[in-house]
Amino acid sequence: MLIFALVMNLSHLSLINFKNFDDISLDLNPSVNCFLGNNGEGKTNLLDAIYYLSYTKSYFNSIDSQNIKFGEPFFVNQGVFELKGELFNVYCGVKKGTKKQFKLNKKNYAKLAEHIGKFPVVLITPYDSNLILEGSELRRKFLDSLISQFDRGYLDDLIRYNKLLNNRNATLKQMAERGSFNPDLLEVIDFQLMEKGTRIYNTRKDFLDDFIPVFNQFYRDISNQSEQVDLNYSSALHHSSFEKLLSDNLERDRRLTYTSQGIHKDDLEFKIMGDYSLKKFASQGQQKSFLIALKLAQFEYIKQQKGFPPILLLDDIFDKLDDNRVSYILKLIANNNLGQTFITDTNLTKVPTILKDLGINFSAFEVKNNNHASIKV
Ligand SMILES: Nc1ncnc2c1ncn2[C@@H]1O[C@H](COP(=O)(O)OP(=O)(O)OP(=O)(O)O)[C@@H](O)[C@H]1O
Ligand SMILES: [Mg+2]
Repeated sequence: MLIFALVMNLSHLSLINFKNFDDISLDLNPSVNCFLGNNGEGKTNLLDAIYYLSYTKSYFNSIDSQNIKFGEPFFVNQGVFELKGELFNVYCGVKKGTKKQFKLNKKNYAKLAEHIGKFPVVLITPYDSNLILEGSELRRKFLDSLISQFDRGYLDDLIRYNKLLNNRNATLKQMAERGSFNPDLLEVIDFQLMEKGTRIYNTRKDFLDDFIPVFNQFYRDISNQSEQVDLNYSSALHHSSFEKLLSDNLERDRRLTYTSQGIHKDDLEFKIMGDYSLKKFASQGQQKSFLIALKLAQFEYIKQQKGFPPILLLDDIFDKLDDNRVSYILKLIANNNLGQTFITDTNLTKVPTILKDLGINFSAFEVKNNNHASIKV
């Protein structure tokens, strides 16, 4: 009984004018829900609606008004979460030209950040491949958002660091334009930048020291030990203090008129077979497995921090994975290692058949667009 009382789930979801949906209302299964249907019917949009209720924003489009159904003036996205035996109503209303309304049990938040982490979700989607394909900024964002969900001090340091960095860069530029160099002016900024930067580095390092082994374990399990991949934290601060980094690069920074080194250049390196770049040398299935291991490690970390599993949103998870890898993930669900889970698939029968065989309790919804989006069990 105690175990069930601790579990969190979304029991109801209702949407008005959210993306391609007119008006839908769904009672959800506390275990597994499948959203099934053809391309473009709105399966991923439903997962994004759930993501919205957790993170107060879309995973895919950070401009709120662009998530309103085309031609309509507003959207309303509501969910009922069950947490430790209590019900919580989460309301998100977006109207063109006005401020977003976000409420818990009819009460507005003073700051949206207060909501994040209350009803955690982890989304695994094909769009995660950007983490591999794009620049380091996205990977730092992934790392920062994961740490700052549970460490307000880290987020405050990060905001302050970025302000100081802008300030330092503007000062370098001004000095270059004026042709005069005032070391005292930089020193005041550098002192604070070093303090915040060193703290951010230490927090990232401590976090990744715990996180990376969990990731490695998931990757080994998904791939059935068949290949070696590595996730590494790369930072200039591994080899130098922040103070030395700034002084060693001062002449260069003056020439460039920006700060060339610091924690704003940190990265997560993704490698396969020793030292080969995952982006260039791994197959699509290997890349996908890497991302799933990364997200499952995120899942484990949140679960540890909260004391209960987050909701897991699996978008197109079965595409490009072989049967062994698919069955590993389904077994995680079957063995009760996961919390409430949402799965999308284009095939109406494949996932329900496997879930039935594994004896997993689930609901299946057929998602249809047709102007008037309808959902059938
Ligand atoms: N603001 C919006 N207003 C109306 N329709 C929208 C809006 N944003 C997206 N859409 C529509 O939503 C549909 C895409 O939905 P979604 O990505 O959820 O599809 P899907 O079922 O996941 O498809 P796939 O199987 O290809 O992944 C597209 O037809 C798109 O035009
Ligand atoms: Mg989709």
